[in-house]
Amino acid sequence: MAARVWTIQNQKGGTTKTTTATNIAACLATVHKKNVLLVDLDGTQGSATDWAGARSDDAVPIPCVIMRETIKRDLPRISAGYDYVIIDGIPQITPLTSDAIKIANLVVIPVQPSQYDIWATRDMVQLVKDRREVTDGTPNVAIMVARAIRNTKIEKTASDALEGYELPILKARTYQSVSYVNGIAQGLSVFDLPNDQAQDDIKAITLELLEMDK
Ligand SMILES: Nc1ncnc2c1ncn2[C@@H]1O[C@H](COP(=O)(O)OP(=O)(O)OP(=O)(O)O)[C@@H](O)[C@H]1O
Ligand SMILES: [Mg+2]
Repeated sequence: MAARVWTIQNQKGGTTKTTTATNIAACLATVHKKNVLLVDLDGTQGSATDWAGARSDDAVPIPCVIMRETIKRDLPRISAGYDYVIIDGIPQITPLTSDAIKIANLVVIPVQPSQYDIWATRDMVQLVKDRREVTDGTPNVAIMVARAIRNTKIEKTASDALEGYELPILKARTYQSVSYVNGIAQGLSVFDLPNDQAQDDIKAITLELLEMDK
């Protein structure tokens, strides 16, 4: 069976695309025992590649490849034998971004719950909506709130603005936490570190995505 392709994309920089991609990949590999391939679209920055390269031999393997302009042509061959391909997107809208959306079964748009970030996500939302219009509704898409502050409500205007995009918003979200930062140098995910709330959050996010991508 062909691998399911999930693209984590937002053209705004620093919205936690890479952190989300690596941890969702780790959740699928570690918790759900799936064969997962990470694809790094950002060869210049290479964050997902560095993370995967630093990963110790004791951790569940998550291979990572850099793919660029030929992704549409090459992904079916490269993803053979994998259950899931998680694509870590780039902070730009280019033909490569469009291809990463075209080949996805599911697009996840991480957005920090501040008005600047929500405004900056506008073009990304439009790109996915335009694609869905010409394809009769594929790929599936979800907005994921990222780095929320625990025990605080998202400001009402930010919450209204997110809803204004009229796309599904995941119930689960990531919260501001050092757990996502601590293991990066060793290629670790929150699942390779002591159990904490971040694990539960990524598990809940992954479950919602699995449910959407049935
Ligand atoms: N939940 C979190 N809590 C605290 N820090 C976080 C969290 N998620 C990500 N970070 C940190 O925020 C920064 C941006 O995250 P990340 O590199 O994943 O974003 P990105 O969208 O991939 O960025 P780029 O657009 O440059 O590719 C990083 O320093 C990362 O360690
Ligand atoms: Mg990144």
